[in-house]
Amino acid sequence: MTRLTRRYRFPASHRLQAASLTEAENRELYGKCNNPHGHGHNYELEVTVRGRVDGTTGMLTPVEELDRLVASVVIRDLDHRNLNCDVAAFANLVPTTENLAEVVRQRLAAAWGKAFGVSGVVLDGIRIRETRKNSVELKN
Ligand code: NI
Repeated sequence: MTRLTRRYRFPASHRLQAASLTEAENRELYGKCNNPHGHGHNYELEVTVRGRVDGTTGMLTPVEELDRLVASVVIRDLDHRNLNCDVAAFANLVPTTENLAEVVRQRLAAAWGKAFGVSGVVLDGIRIRETRKNSVELKN
């Protein structure tokens, strides 16, 4: 079994604010990340796939196929957006890195069969790096 990881970047902004908490509780919990007009991050997304190397091509999958899928179900919708205001998934979901990773994983998983079903290449997991200090990983 071989794993391949491909990295993508997309800047986006957000504000961390839980609807069920008071303004004071939100300030206390999220600190600067609760500032009213939001702030931006240069998110890095790593997508890891696994499968068997094709004997003819010597590859798991052409990376362009992965790029196309990630562009169409992730980047197009999130790149240069305000996650709170522009992305329906976060209308009632705090756009923490944990929740962002779960939204991205679900989108990839939902489209995976159509893109990679025949090839047998599976989604192994993803990682989203929000800052140099923080990243969240989801393993399938
Ligand atoms: Ni932030």
